[in-house]
Amino acid sequence: MDTIVGLDIGSHSVKLIELSRDKKGVALLAAGSAPTPPKALASTVQSDWEAVAVIVKKLFKDTGTKAEAINIALPESQVFTRIIEVPALSSRELTSAIKWEAEQYIPLPLADVTVDFTVLRDAAATGTNKMDVLLVASPKTLVEKYVSILEMSDLSVNAVETEILATSRALIKTIPNVKTVMIVSLGAQTTDFAIIRDGVLAFTRSIAAGGEALSRSLSQKLGFEMIQAEAFKRTYGLEKDKLEGKIVEAIKPIMDTIISEMNRAIAFYQEKFKGDHIGVVLLSGGTARLPGLVVYLAQALGLEVQLANPWVGISRDGRFKVLDTEGAVFTVAVGLALR
Ligand SMILES: Nc1ncnc2c1ncn2[C@@H]1O[C@H](COP(=O)(O)OP(=O)(O)OP(=O)(O)O)[C@@H](O)[C@H]1O
Ligand SMILES: [Mg+2]
Repeated sequence: MDTIVGLDIGSHSVKLIELSRDKKGVALLAAGSAPTPPKALASTVQSDWEAVAVIVKKLFKDTGTKAEAINIALPESQVFTRIIEVPALSSRELTSAIKWEAEQYIPLPLADVTVDFTVLRDAAATGTNKMDVLLVASPKTLVEKYVSILEMSDLSVNAVETEILATSRALIKTIPNVKTVMIVSLGAQTTDFAIIRDGVLAFTRSIAAGGEALSRSLSQKLGFEMIQAEAFKRTYGLEKDKLEGKIVEAIKPIMDTIISEMNRAIAFYQEKFKGDHIGVVLLSGGTARLPGLVVYLAQALGLEVQLANPWVGISRDGRFKVLDTEGAVFTVAVGLALR
């Protein structure tokens, strides 16, 4: 039986999902998560990554995962993802043209990055003489870091992709009848945005604001220790009537940043695809579980908002019941394992 592991090494936690795939469909074989050692992942020193490797190894052991095909994701905030318009070209012409295009869009020397591209919409699909191409440039040092962590864990990497691509794969099948979907992945350090139209990526963006910024703001404004702030955040979140509205007030500036980024994304999208509108917004990542977030964003944006559920279409036996409401945290790992 073929099984594939998706490993999402986040700044706050490492998530593992193992899926099997056969004629009957896709089934969940293993799932687990563990805290990422603070600062280890951000370090550029190889010896610091060892601490992450220890966690990864333990996670494989604890979940009983034996698969050898392991797919990993690179943090969206550290790769350069652009959707560019280029003249309609053959694939061979595109390969040489892309280098020149990449130079314009990527603020790093081309020698330091690995450039990948995918045609999202060809000339027939755009109805013009242009094509939409997804350009992804990953710093070589970043890829090396993740590959090293796996090697230190006695594992080898099968495929590497960006978080947004994994997230899109996991979620797109869960809302088959919606033409245009916005996905917002709220992690610890970053929030990533994607707009997907007819199953094809149309917009991506990442900002440096997430769950940690919410806790920090609570801690600073209300004078809590970080641990306490984290607990208040998880218990009360955006529920307006709690602590006389002080919690909401303290985290509102971060929420405003996220909402204004969403509005910018929507404006950009509607400029390109006139007359289209966002059918639903799906919230993913650990911070998607912030109490009251779904309602808060729905009101602020005037759009339908739902918590992402990557389990749709994946059979799970009883021992995974506890994860039913935890799906949003595992979206990236599920998407990786579905690859
Ligand atoms: N119930 C909850 N309510 C609010 N926030 C939560 C809840 N549970 C977890 N979080 C927050 O989710 C964040 C962790 O989410 P996640 O595991 O998706 O992050 P990560 O993938 O490690 O981070 P990143 O992708 O930014 O590197 C933390 O900031 C944590 O405080
Ligand atoms: Mg993450």
